[in-house]
Amino acid sequence: MPCTVVVGGFFGDTGKGKVISYLALADDIEVAARGGVGPNAGHTVVYKGQKFVMRMLPSAFVNERCRLLVGPGVLVDPAVFLREVEMVKAHGRVGLDPRCAIIELKHKELDRRGHLKERIGTTGTGCGPCNADRAMRVAKLARDVPELEPYLTDVPLEVNRAIDEGRRVLLEGTQGTFLSLYHGTYPYVTSKDVTASAICSDVGVGPTRVDDVIVVFKAYVTRVGLGPLPGELSQEEAERRGWAEVASVTGRKRRAAPFNFDLAKRAVMLNGATQVALTKIDVLYPECQGARKFEELPREARELVARIEEELEVPVSIIGTGPGVFEIVDRRDELGLKR
Ligand code: IMP
Ligand code: MG
Repeated sequence: MPCTVVVGGFFGDTGKGKVISYLALADDIEVAARGGVGPNAGHTVVYKGQKFVMRMLPSAFVNERCRLLVGPGVLVDPAVFLREVEMVKAHGRVGLDPRCAIIELKHKELDRRGHLKERIGTTGTGCGPCNADRAMRVAKLARDVPELEPYLTDVPLEVNRAIDEGRRVLLEGTQGTFLSLYHGTYPYVTSKDVTASAICSDVGVGPTRVDDVIVVFKAYVTRVGLGPLPGELSQEEAERRGWAEVASVTGRKRRAAPFNFDLAKRAVMLNGATQVALTKIDVLYPECQGARKFEELPREARELVARIEEELEVPVSIIGTGPGVFEIVDRRDELGLKR
């Protein structure tokens, strides 16, 4: 996997953090770069009994040798960024691009009232208003913030050099395909595109340099904030099935629906998926909890995987069986997908 892009299918919160932290360790990723929107995302990593919600730094931080970069397309909230650097003690191996735009207090204030809050139900983290200022060419950039100075680096140059040298590189996307400004359920979307092509652009990597695109789907669909959710269950039914999750950034309740094959097919198309990761299968079939081998999964779980592969025409190479980094069935060897 010289250069792999990992993005979310559905509406975000599909388990990218978990899948990426696993890949970082299993494949010994050397350089990880985050694309996507900014601190509106929360990627959950459960490692060595500790839970981390990563809003700015790549989820690959669990591999202590991995360089952690934030691409120029990403919006940076300096306080969140610096707090995370401290939290994972990553001072010596973090870099962010001087061209990242900076979220200021005024952006958060604008995001927490009016139509963004009432009509769209944004995360209130200031991302939309900051991207608006960026498009208006009035945004402040990371190069203008003295506290960020020690971390500034040319991220596109670093990442492309690493690819040239044949090192293992991972690009981390945020949110999910149907929250994309272009491809999602407008106006109930985030403030930019978040498909695989956009993530590459955020980091400064051209499409010819990517070897694999892994789209992460959860075994059921959730959505926070407003906007359509086909097949939505009542809150009561979602609770009964154990699908009523709490959002990691905003603490809001997530709405829930069954796995959606039509959306999944479209996400595979829009992202050019070469592999699919399916997470939280243990929530559907508790017997899967902690399994690491495909044969250990009950028949219904294996049938679901087979049906997804048949309909999506993409191999389900990684299956999440619990919250921990290593609670994963990794089928890449048996499917002949390891590069
Ligand atoms: P914004 O990205 O904060 O502007 O919010 C726009 C919409 O995207 C809202 O419905 C949010 O709930 C949703 N959203 C933004 N980021 C995430 C995420 O990381 N996970 C899930 N939903 C998100
Ligand atoms: Mg999340």
